[in-house]
Amino acid sequence: MSKPLKLGIAGLGTVGTGLLQALDAHADRLAATLGREIRVAAVSARSRDKDRGVRLDGFRWVDDAVALASDREIDVFVELIGGEGGVAAEAVEAALRARKHVVTANKALLARHGVRLARLAEEHGVALNFEAAVAGGIPVIKTIREALLGNEIRRVYGILNGTCNYILTTMQKEGRPFAEVLKEAQARGYAEADPTFDIGGFDTAHKLSLLTSLAFGTEVAFDDIHVEGIEHIAPADIEAADDLGYRIKLLGVALRTPSGIEQRVHPAMVPKHSAIAEVSGVTNCVAIDGDFAGDLLLVGSGAGAKPTASAVASDIGDIARGLVLPPFLVPSGQLMPYVRAMLDRHQGAYYVRLTVYDRPGAMAAIASRMAEQEVSIESIVQRRPRSALPGIGARPVPGSLTPVVLITHETTEEAIRKALAAIERDGKVSETPQMIRIEKL
Ligand code: HSE
Repeated sequence: MSKPLKLGIAGLGTVGTGLLQALDAHADRLAATLGREIRVAAVSARSRDKDRGVRLDGFRWVDDAVALASDREIDVFVELIGGEGGVAAEAVEAALRARKHVVTANKALLARHGVRLARLAEEHGVALNFEAAVAGGIPVIKTIREALLGNEIRRVYGILNGTCNYILTTMQKEGRPFAEVLKEAQARGYAEADPTFDIGGFDTAHKLSLLTSLAFGTEVAFDDIHVEGIEHIAPADIEAADDLGYRIKLLGVALRTPSGIEQRVHPAMVPKHSAIAEVSGVTNCVAIDGDFAGDLLLVGSGAGAKPTASAVASDIGDIARGLVLPPFLVPSGQLMPYVRAMLDRHQGAYYVRLTVYDRPGAMAAIASRMAEQEVSIESIVQRRPRSALPGIGARPVPGSLTPVVLITHETTEEAIRKALAAIERDGKVSETPQMIRIEKL
């Protein structure tokens, strides 16, 4: 047997504790499979006394995570602290400079500093592995980095945030509004006390930026992602989607286009009988379209102690086997500059919900604004939702408000935006139109 691989683990929250449990539960199997023992040499966390349900007395305690990162006793620094800067960033950088391999679950750090850290890892001949940073227990980084080498990837997309998927699924199943479901999710511990990162789409964007770089061999471009959250999704949209044969999912999508790479995070309509529509609750999924492998869909747990620890353990296993790959698939110096495809040029069909003043000529005016932009309407319904919108009664009253839902044929984002802006300017609607992209699967 080779000599043990010694870990320094910084951060003993849900994932760190889960990792200690996994390494303990599978110690013999890991040693037999890898031909060497995986040994925890030292740990570091904010509080030493906190009861985490795991025994820490066998491990050396180091107060300072940055000091642990370059500790001479360790081979691998496992960063499970989180956050795009601060101690996590300082410690990872210190570890790489000290020629320690790094395993991290920190998507925010990599989305911001991934390429620089990858360069540092390559210069020092060590690994920077981050399977746990994207979609928890779903082995998507390994899938792209290893299993799909013989493919040109055309598109990668998925449901990358369990909190949003839980909220949207619950709204759909129980017919309840966003704010109420969010409050309940927070009370049950499914959503953070400050849920902005999740529901605003930023957590999905962090993960998408890493997938994009791996899939297309480009520099990580988090700031170039178009991000919309789920806050504005109303029960009326969920109901209309259902009636029209769709489900609403928060998707992260990256695809090659003739003018560059399109990266976007937003609620999207997907056909309700598609596999992705069936991914419900906190479950995540990642779809990858390869030119030879075809269309793949990986589904699994995107968060939580066990699935995330499983991903961290696999990264540690690679290092134990001596597998050190460039973090973003190609050496960082060969990553292509990111060329952003403008969303205005996005082509697709759209769902639009308008709250229209119920007066003669309103529909004609809407149709004419669409026609001016050459937006062709596939279907239009004046519908009263089962959950009536505020200000909308159960029965139509002349001059009152009426909801109108329409689906367009494929058009451009620029055209639909211009048409909707004109409709709003005309004073035909009482509120800003709701627009949701229909994702072509
Ligand atoms: N907060 C994330 C989610 C998990 O709800 O899926 C960690 O990225």
